[in-house]
Amino acid sequence: MYFSTHLARFSIPDVLVPPFPETPSPVANKFPLPPLFFFRYLGSDMKIAILSDIHSNLEALLKTFTILDDLRIEEIYCLGDIVGYGGSPNECVNLIRKRASRCVLGNHDLAAIDTSHASYFTKPGRIAAEWTHEVLTSQNLDYLSSLPYRLDTEFGTIVHANPARPEEWEYIVSLEDAEPQFAHFTTPLCFIGHSHIPFVCGEDRKTFVLKKGLRALINVGSVGQPRDHDPRLSFGLLDSDSWTYENIRAEYDIRGAAQAIIENGLPQFLADRLFRGV
Ligand SMILES: [Fe+2]
Repeated sequence: MYFSTHLARFSIPDVLVPPFPETPSPVANKFPLPPLFFFRYLGSDMKIAILSDIHSNLEALLKTFTILDDLRIEEIYCLGDIVGYGGSPNECVNLIRKRASRCVLGNHDLAAIDTSHASYFTKPGRIAAEWTHEVLTSQNLDYLSSLPYRLDTEFGTIVHANPARPEEWEYIVSLEDAEPQFAHFTTPLCFIGHSHIPFVCGEDRKTFVLKKGLRALINVGSVGQPRDHDPRLSFGLLDSDSWTYENIRAEYDIRGAAQAIIENGLPQFLADRLFRGV
């Protein structure tokens, strides 16, 4: 089912169709959030924000933290790819080091540590990886080098690409891809990123919202480079108390993020795609 046949592994897909049916949500795609949402999320300790694929986009990350601060959410997990593509790698790593309680390694983080891991990237991706490697501080390179491929947390497993083979960076872009993944985590939830396309997929592969008693694989989308033809930033919000999950989308200063890419001499394509959400 769905579209993965045309999606070349280890490359940036040119055309992506959303892999899973749209998750109905009262708040997704409607930021600023309605008052009821704020009421629901204020004053509880059981809310976790899950961010992925920031890709050196400081403008998107700052907007994300503004949203989380407004909601008083302090527990933040990061699924990797903090860097790559964008123009503000040190600023983004600094913020994640400061704010995220858990973080795993992404393939672009690995390429920034050792650029030989960028050999399968597209040309703009390779150029950005080499530039990122050059400009990252030794402290930030050390931080990225310290990140594990996978973590099992109280609220679920977190991994950049997939729980079956985290080091292989295979994409999960269809129900067929999702099915075998459930055998590779024992927690109720597994959060992933990597494809930059958000979805919720229940273990029955028929349920596309979070449901008590049903394990789920959740892609939180991308903070800094969404690819579902919606240029707004994307991240996940889990309420482990009420067992609800929201994919939050919000506009941010795309112009500023694009300018940082151009000013640092990175390929124009990396700036242009931000406006199109691809
Ligand atoms: Fe990524």
